[in-house]
Amino acid sequence: MTYNRTIIITGGAGFIGSHVVRLFVNKYPDYRIINLDKLTYAGNLANLKDIEDKPNYRFVKMDICDFEAVMALMQEEKVDGVIHLAAESHVDRSIKDPFTFAQTNVMGTLSMLQAAKIYWESLPERYEGKRFYHISTDEVYGALELSHPEGIKPPYTTKASSGLHHEAYGEDFFYETTKYNPHSPYSAAKASSDHFVRAYHDTYGMPTVVTNCSNNYGPYQFPEKLIPLFINNIRHRKPLPVYGKGENVRDWLYVEDHARAIDLIFHQGKVAETYNIGGFNEWKNIDIIKVVINTVDRLLGRKEGEDMDLITYVTDRAGHDMRYAIDSTKLQKELGWEPSLQFEEGIEKTVRWYLDNQEWMDNITSGEYEKYYEDMYKNR
Ligand code: NAD
Ligand code: TYD
Repeated sequence: MTYNRTIIITGGAGFIGSHVVRLFVNKYPDYRIINLDKLTYAGNLANLKDIEDKPNYRFVKMDICDFEAVMALMQEEKVDGVIHLAAESHVDRSIKDPFTFAQTNVMGTLSMLQAAKIYWESLPERYEGKRFYHISTDEVYGALELSHPEGIKPPYTTKASSGLHHEAYGEDFFYETTKYNPHSPYSAAKASSDHFVRAYHDTYGMPTVVTNCSNNYGPYQFPEKLIPLFINNIRHRKPLPVYGKGENVRDWLYVEDHARAIDLIFHQGKVAETYNIGGFNEWKNIDIIKVVINTVDRLLGRKEGEDMDLITYVTDRAGHDMRYAIDSTKLQKELGWEPSLQFEEGIEKTVRWYLDNQEWMDNITSGEYEKYYEDMYKNR
């Protein structure tokens, strides 16, 4: 079969990447989708069981830093699009091991860019019909202040923020024009990779696009991140380590809504543009934790709230950013994207998924994970 497009999706065995791969493989049978992933601790092919036998899907175990191998794959498959998600993604790990973050996030992105450049420039049509789409984070913008700790009415509400709770915790937001000001080794490495992507457009004319998204939640997230970690701990009645006072604010988006935005922007986003992705859905950590506890308790047939005493305040994360809040008006106005899921529905769906997929969780949380978990939390 000849395909209309051949796209490499990097990091497709990870949390967000697996949702993007699934969406593209199912929605575009006329596209050949190549999942390029090194399968680090965060990569898991069990995330893609349902699509692994589809004829338009190929998995390749490869390190994005292996420039020669990436080049060869691009030539072999005649790749015309890259959706780049592979990265080291956990802030706490970046504090302990910044070198790996610089290597993967900066050098790995550079390797993907250079391979695409050399391959595409070798073709008669060069960059025509090509696209390099880099997935980034709102964390590159730094931190906003908690200037309204009690919450104020947000300037916009979306379906994601239309539930019982809808507050903004300041008047300021991250815009596409906000100056980069990363604080953690993770966000510093992501910021650097974003700059390289834009430099490849400005210097070589590569058709690039960059998006910066807020915190994602949903199925298949590695249980070192707040929501799946806490769901699993509540189930097993283990302590819930809340950093600092639990007052830090994050802006949460259901992962499938992020994947839909990526699809839209890959196809319709303007070359060289940046789009922020978020649903105006800010929550203080402690408030979201209470919602998660109530939901897990209810779904497990326990008395709602009976596990509140698992909340354990621990030493704060070093350099812990106070508030993230994304303004995604540009994406909504220019490309008509809207979150599809109301937040309470999204959390209910997410908790239900983790409780129903205990085997997925057990496979991850055996072996290596235990050691990571012990090391990470023994000094807190
Ligand atoms: P994840 O940690 O769940 O998955 C990362 C994937 O990349 C894994 O499958 C891993 O095996 C792969 N990978 C890591 N190093 C690699 C290498 N050297 N070569 C090839 N593959 C490698 O991450 P995620 O949460 O799905 O995030 C995906 C992307 O989205 C990242 O670029 C992240 O910065 C960005 N992002 C994440 C969030 C979020 O809330 N999780 C929000 C905004 C942006
Ligand atoms: P996380 O899921 O690590 O995402 P990020 O740091 O990229 O925003 O954490 C979300 C928030 O939850 C962040 O403010 C840190 C906090 N947190 C805890 O309080 N306890 C935990 O065990 C974890 C993992 C996170």
